Amino acid sequence: MFKQTVLAVAVAAASVSAIAADVAYPEKFRDGKHVKSMIINKGHPLYGAVGGMHHIYGNAKAMAGFKAGKFANGSVITFDLFEAVDKDNAVSEGAHKAVVVMAKDSAMFKATDGWGYQVFDPKTKKGSLDAKAQADCHACHVSQKDKDFVFSALRD
Ligand code: HEC
Repeated sequence: MFKQTVLAVAVAAASVSAIAADVAYPEKFRDGKHVKSMIINKGHPLYGAVGGMHHIYGNAKAMAGFKAGKFANGSVITFDLFEAVDKDNAVSEGAHKAVVVMAKDSAMFKATDGWGYQVFDPKTKKGSLDAKAQADCHACHVSQKDKDFVFSALRD
């Protein structure tokens, strides 16, 4: 009886984790290569979601992907978001707002063409997006289908 209960709990836990397959926090992402930076001001359509100053980094697989135009499983692109503080005729980084991630795993993230999306709180490293929100991220990135759903590009 007891054994059966344990088994049932284990099975339930396994199916929950299968559903909740998610992007891992990208530890040490700033050791990756810098792709580009941008400041999104008030009035831009993305201001509400990701207003402020961001820097985009790629791990080694992602950097190969940027060059090839197609990203292998294991590619991780991180969008590091800060407040943009406009003061004394200079724009600087303010508070760290979020660590926004795309991670490629074609089996795990089948529903979103192989990309997992997540937004992490930089302090707790906890993600806040559910499957619906992840699908919303992808709905915009779909416009970049020709570039494997990635907007940013390396400079010459
Ligand atoms: C309305 C369109 C739109 C939505 C919705 C959107 N993005 Fe993006 N995303 C962009 C644009 C545009 C860029 C390029 C920014 C730049 O060039 O610096 C971008 C860049 C990124 C990048 C860097 C890689 C790349 O494609 O350039 C990541 C990571 C990212 N977004 C994750 C997310 C996540 C996670 C969500 C959902 C919370 C999301 N995005 C929702 C438009 C969108």
